[in-house]
Amino acid sequence: MDSIIVTGGGPLKGDIPIAGAKNACLTLMPATLLSDEPLTLTNAPRLSDIRTMSTLLESLGAEVSPLSDGLVLAMSSHALNGARADYDIVRKMRASILVLGPLLARLGEAVVSLPGGCAIGARPVDLHLKALEALGADLDLRDGYVHAKAPSGGLRGGDVEFPFVSVGATENALMAATLARGTTRLKNAAQEPEIVDLADCLRAMGAQISGDGTDTIEIQGVDRMHGATHRVVTDRIELGTYMLAPLIAGGEVTCLGGRRDLLSAFCDKIEAAGGSVTESPEGLTVTRANGPIQAVDVETEPFPGFPTDLQAQMMALLCTAEGTSMLEEKIFENRFMHAPELIRMGAQIDVHGGTATVTGVERLRGAQVMATDLRASVSLILAGLAAEGETRVGRVYHLDRGYEHVVRKLSAVGAKIERVRDDE
Ligand code: EPZ
Repeated sequence: MDSIIVTGGGPLKGDIPIAGAKNACLTLMPATLLSDEPLTLTNAPRLSDIRTMSTLLESLGAEVSPLSDGLVLAMSSHALNGARADYDIVRKMRASILVLGPLLARLGEAVVSLPGGCAIGARPVDLHLKALEALGADLDLRDGYVHAKAPSGGLRGGDVEFPFVSVGATENALMAATLARGTTRLKNAAQEPEIVDLADCLRAMGAQISGDGTDTIEIQGVDRMHGATHRVVTDRIELGTYMLAPLIAGGEVTCLGGRRDLLSAFCDKIEAAGGSVTESPEGLTVTRANGPIQAVDVETEPFPGFPTDLQAQMMALLCTAEGTSMLEEKIFENRFMHAPELIRMGAQIDVHGGTATVTGVERLRGAQVMATDLRASVSLILAGLAAEGETRVGRVYHLDRGYEHVVRKLSAVGAKIERVRDDE
């Protein structure tokens, strides 16, 4: 296994290019199953999760050809050979459940392994299943798989009211509804930019969708979908992650391709903490406005609220803010695993249930720490940028799931960071 070693240093300066969104790409790729014509994605991120999704689609008979060093994914599912997504692939990545809706819509049946939970929570898929049942699917859960069947005439449009917001369930229902006969309304739908990006791609394939980006999405089913080429939206979570780097280490960084509308609640919060965010055609430039970072309270919410996927990274900033901050994690039940690792670096954090109280300290001290999940791993790297001495982050395979070229991107703006093999 590899580790990343960060040595606390001076201010950062320069540009960081932001890649296409992992969480958009992981729902755009299964969309290829909806058509027998090619779907090509550009601006695709080069990540292990994307490779896992490619493997899953290929196990169903789809073709996925990475071009231009993986920036382009040329896909085709004209020759699907099955509708079974096996546990050994699904267990690696929960987003695998996103093949269920498209397979059901295209083939009328699907057998998809239930994804296990993961470090941050149980993460059931009951909302996905209820939504598909509302479109007429017959679902049978047995031996760890969802055995799904559409009515003989195919899925039919229906009303789906989500009891609470679910990004994945919205995506599964949206894709299935594109080929369902009649009208489907998704109420209390997720409004994330990745949902809008998926709707844009589906419209390019011939779907009739309106209301995406609001809490009610309406879909008129069509008989078939055709091929398209679609550019993956910028990754707002990678963007927010790198925006925090100059706030923690000092200096000025421009995140190329960043747009404020992708994460306005996050931008408001870091400005309240003393950061300055300037938007230009190149992207978002971030500096410390003046003086130290001030404590702020954060509550994670579905979009357009503060993203849960930036909670760990924000905590890294607040560990050295002036004052005490309260972070409330309201989306997942166990998403503070970075706290004990930050405490090893000298942070003062008190976790009770879904609330973490962070009392700022002068400076963190480098330490050996362990990555536990994707976003926790990068929060430890951010913390190491300004810590005294060396921070060694282990199990960085978590990082490879969601961040491409972290060492290269941070080194380019002056960070002292390297990746080493653990036996070194
Ligand atoms: C997506 O996960 C993202 N993953 C997550 O990013 C992100 O944290 C999450 O949305 C929230 O924004 C991808 O897009 C691949 P949810 P998803 O369904 O769709 C519960 C990252 O770091 N729930 O919106 O799985 C669930 O347990 C990852 O990139 C049910 O109870 O999230 C959670 O508590 C982590 N039943 C809450 O709802 C369901 O059927 C929100 O989950 C579905 C979800």
